Amino acid sequence: MNVENILIIGGTGKTGRRVAEQLKKKGIEPRIGSRNALPSFDWNNKETWVKSLDGIEKMYVTYHPDLAVPGAKEAIESLTYLAKELGVKKMVLLSGKGETEAEACEAIVMNSGINYTIVRASWFNQNWSESFFLDPVISGEVALPMSDVLIPFVDANDIAEVVATVLLDDSYNRETIEVTGPELITFKDIVDIISSTSNRKLNFHNITLEQYIDGMKKMQLPTDVVWLIEYLFSHVLTNPKNQVVVNDVERVLGRKARTFKEYALETAKTGIWSQVEGQCL
Ligand SMILES: NC(=O)c1ccc[n+]([C@@H]2O[C@H](COP(=O)([O-])OP(=O)(O)OC[C@H]3O[C@@H](n4cnc5c(N)ncnc54)[C@H](OP(=O)(O)O)[C@@H]3O)[C@@H](O)[C@H]2O)c1
Repeated sequence: MNVENILIIGGTGKTGRRVAEQLKKKGIEPRIGSRNALPSFDWNNKETWVKSLDGIEKMYVTYHPDLAVPGAKEAIESLTYLAKELGVKKMVLLSGKGETEAEACEAIVMNSGINYTIVRASWFNQNWSESFFLDPVISGEVALPMSDVLIPFVDANDIAEVVATVLLDDSYNRETIEVTGPELITFKDIVDIISSTSNRKLNFHNITLEQYIDGMKKMQLPTDVVWLIEYLFSHVLTNPKNQVVVNDVERVLGRKARTFKEYALETAKTGIWSQVEGQCL
């Protein structure tokens, strides 16, 4: 059954693939926007956009790697204009809490004349299992700056359920929904939780941001990745707007947001944190 023509840009990513699963449970087969989908969608090739948006009524937009990177605002602007021209009726934009650049992208969507919902998220739990915090956990040595900053880490499954709900329910049009977890926790708390749920000894090292950046440069990470991570730590993590629990997940879903411990218990069972050089312990 295909009752709505829905496009998920980033439909194989951390939130997008979970939104697709949520929609499929409701009998809706969304179109996936990714470089590997057919038709393919590539942020760096506008010629691919028209085919992906053809016949689409609603879309969920995640920008990779982050709305803060140079060029993101222009891409969101061009995509929004094209969506309007092609008759898209509603956009749900994934944005980041405490990111000035992301707020500029939100404003483009809000002022476009297309129906919209903004889903503004704090840092994801899944950064520890599907993104840049996974390798340090596998190595057993987690060295991070700002170990005392309180962060309302949110679960990508909760974000996806909220996104699927607001995509289908127009009563959330013109709203900004702030998705956070139910508690404020520190990096040190997180490492302790992962250590106990995965039954592994993890060492936590509190380092300065400069040491963290130097470490990434020594590992020869690409300059744009180092820039983004430095930006996220120095501008987003420390922004007081980011250090607040909001109950919008519960307001939309009618149940409490998942705790980091619930996420860690589920994730530990997959064995992802027990790997050593690609092998499970
Ligand atoms: N991680 C966090 O803690 C956090 C917190 C708040 C907000 N956010 C926001 O979340 C957004 C990212 O969402 P996400 O984490 O769900 O996605 P993600 O996992 O970062 O993105 C991966 C998806 O993007 C696609 N992709 C990568 N490069 C692409 C390109 N050049 N053209 C088209 N598609 C491309 C990938 O498909 P292919 O590789 O097949 O193309 C895949 O579907 C960012 O804008 C970020 O600001 C993240």
